[in-house]
Formats: sequence, C-alpha cells, structure tokens
Amino acid sequence: MVIKISPSILASDYANLESELKRIETSDLIHVDVMDGHFVPNISIGAPVVSAIRKVSDVPFDVHLMISRPLKYVEDFANAGADIICFHVESDDDTGETVDKILSLGKKAALAVKPKTDIEQVLPYLDKLAMVLVMTVEPGFGGQSFMTDMMPKIEKLRALGYKGDIEVDGGVNPETIKLAAKAGANVFVAGSAVFKSENPKDTIKLLKDNAASKVD
Ligand code: DX5
Ligand code: ZN
Repeated sequence: MVIKISPSILASDYANLESELKRIETSDLIHVDVMDGHFVPNISIGAPVVSAIRKVSDVPFDVHLMISRPLKYVEDFANAGADIICFHVESDDDTGETVDKILSLGKKAALAVKPKTDIEQVLPYLDKLAMVLVMTVEPGFGGQSFMTDMMPKIEKLRALGYKGDIEVDGGVNPETIKLAAKAGANVFVAGSAVFKSENPKDTIKLLKDNAASKVD
C-alpha cells in the first residue's frame, strides 16, 4: 500500500495559512477539517477558505466534512478545489446519494465512521469509495488521545478484502502511527503531531518511516 501523510490544518495558525502550508509542502495530502457546530460541537472553516488556500498549494486536499448535511454542500467543496471529499455515515443525508453526488462532481469519495459506529455501515458503499476514514478520536477537537481499540475495524476491512485507502484520524503521532499501520491503515492524518513540532517536514518523514516499518 502507498503510505500517505495528511497533516490537519486544524492545528495550524489560521492567521498565516499560506506560510503554514509551506511548512508542510512535502506532505502527500492536506487534511481540511470542516465542522458545522451541529454534527460536532465546534465550527471551523468552510468552502471559501478551501478556495483561498487552493491558490497557494499544489498538494491534494483531503476534505473531512463533519457536518450534518453533506449533500447540500459537497458541490461547494468540489468547486473550491477539494480532491477527496469525505463525509460521515452518521450524517443526516442519504449516504448512497451523497457518494454518487461526489462522484458526479468528478471527485474521490470517502466515508468516515465515528468511534461508536460499526464498520459494517460502510460495506454497502465500498465499491464506490476511494477511501474509508476510521476515526480514532471523537470528531470535533484536535489534540485528543489515539483510541487503540479502533484497530479491529481496520483489520476487519482488510480481512474482507478491501484494497482501497484506509485513513485514520485523531491522536496520530510517531508511536501510534505504527499501531494503525500494523492494523492495515495507509493514510494518516496528523494535526498536533505535525504542526506543533519544531520541524514539520522532519516529522512528516518520521511518521512515514515509522508507518512503513509496519507495512508489508
Ligand atoms: C478531529 C479532526 C482531526 C483533528 C486531528 O475532529 O477530524 O482531523 O484535526 O487532530 P490531532 O492529530 O491533533 O488529533
Ligand atoms: Zn479530520
């Protein structure tokens, strides 16, 4: 599997997004956390900010929609320059319809599951998904601790023969990344671990090396 590191800009300095993106220009993806204050307690950023930062980065955007009505907004994020659009299976909109809408916009679709949600819920859509996101914290806040007990979800997806990307999000650091990689994940979101480090590019490399050491 190709290993990808996706730093979450939720942990970056929003006053200086252009220079923050330069600090992580060696990453494979950029993870953009969108929160609506309804699906999760916080409000973060929306499509206009995605559109603005699209102009100052060439790295593909991995947009994580933590919002109740993804179907209503996926077009805005597609137009803003998202490359992968990920939404939650627990959201209020019809999952199949939302996946189809993302694909019709020419974007890659991904489906996320919260910690208390069974991984079985994504199975009907696997054929159409480029990626499954297994949350390793409750969505809504950066800087939480990695939930090791989510690893069986990843193992189960791989055991079922799923060959697409599996992303983990929440509490990923140079140590916990090894557990996720061993379980079968290959895309790793890291907010605090990357942006709060002295040298984000070195941290991205360390994360990648540590994940690779556990992947066949
Ligand atoms: C949590 C977000 C995460 C978050 C990760 O709701 O989906 O992407 O930014 O932050 P860290 O890596 O600090 O746990
Ligand atoms: Zn996220």
